[in-house]
Amino acid sequence: MYVQHLSVADFRNWPRADLSFEPGVSVLVGPNGEGKTNLLEAVGYLATLGSHRVATDAPLIRAGAERAVVQAAVVSSGRQLVLEVEITAGRTNRAKLNRSPVPRPRDILGGLRTVLFSPEDLAIVRGDPAERRRFLDDVLVQLTPRLAGVRADYERVLKQRAALLKTAGAARRAGGAGDLRTLEVWDGHLASSGAQLLAARLELVAALRPHVSQAYAELAPSSGQLAIGYVSSVPVAAGNDTGVIPSLETLSASLLEELSRVRPQELDRGVSLVGPHRDDLELRLNELPLRGYASHGEGWSAALALRLACYELLSADGAEPVLILDDVFAELDVARRDQLAGIASKAEQVLISAAVPGDVPPALTGAHYAIAHGEISRGS
Ligand SMILES: Nc1ncnc2c1ncn2[C@@H]1O[C@H](COP(=O)(O)OP(=O)(O)O)[C@@H](O)[C@H]1O
Ligand SMILES: [Mg+2]
Repeated sequence: MYVQHLSVADFRNWPRADLSFEPGVSVLVGPNGEGKTNLLEAVGYLATLGSHRVATDAPLIRAGAERAVVQAAVVSSGRQLVLEVEITAGRTNRAKLNRSPVPRPRDILGGLRTVLFSPEDLAIVRGDPAERRRFLDDVLVQLTPRLAGVRADYERVLKQRAALLKTAGAARRAGGAGDLRTLEVWDGHLASSGAQLLAARLELVAALRPHVSQAYAELAPSSGQLAIGYVSSVPVAAGNDTGVIPSLETLSASLLEELSRVRPQELDRGVSLVGPHRDDLELRLNELPLRGYASHGEGWSAALALRLACYELLSADGAEPVLILDDVFAELDVARRDQLAGIASKAEQVLISAAVPGDVPPALTGAHYAIAHGEISRGS
């Protein structure tokens, strides 16, 4: 698939911007701080309904504006689809598909698939577990848009449980019994949406595993084996490297069992202590955890391998995703640059940002867009 047209209004530093793209390579070139990444971020937003740089929507709205609008025309298997999201601070966002409003923004998911590489990717390797959960979930919602609904349900359950745990905990500390009956109902909700999310993550990790190992071996042939695993707070899902995914019933039963085991601690702390929101993607290089052990170069190779694995997986699943390379070449050594360029040169569409044209490997020839002083001018 490819993005044929992008237009944004009041998104980040752009009051308005319009760009037409063709399949193949497009490079946004311009000095730092001009808004290149912002444009690529807008494309990524339509694919995941999230930014690769910030966890909330507020920074995406241009300072002083009330709402941002991002719209793209996407061509997939010869058919055009127009996706649009209106991002409003503190209120529910709205979305349109082919210019008609849809009930929820997540109804546009699946219309555009992207795999975005950026300097922030090192955080997948070095950052907190939340970074790796987000990495997994961003791929999941692109592969299976329905899961965005499951994830939203799950997040609602966590909020509700936290409120109930706090009240029940306080009641118990005051010598009362606390309303445990209502809590049990929400345990059930947590177990059912949690099990779906868990099963999907386990399947994803199993599907990514061979791609990750292979991509890493190609990127860093002398550095050893990169292996991934899913670390779970739910016993039946933990250490699951076999590729055999427990059934939803088994996962849900195991979740419920753990919840009742940790009930006293949950009441003390007022948070849910078991479930996919506590899990992690484990990265091991030659049996050592990457986090804390890996060199800078190994960390980068691992981050690239993870993204490339997503690219392979999404491509194998149907529509080939748009490859977005945000200012990554300057970060990489020559060998890794060439590897990435080799893969990118075969992609249906690659959107690249770079401070100077010389940052982009020569294998990636294509259209150039000069970006300066809030203006975009198309070169060749
Ligand atoms: N919500 C916002 N409102 C106005 N300007 C913003 C907003 N968010 C980011 N910016 C501005 O965007 C610029 C950075 O754009 P970016 O796309 O990261 O640049 P680059 O071209 O280096 O990739 C900064 O000048 C920053 O102040
Ligand atoms: Mg940038």
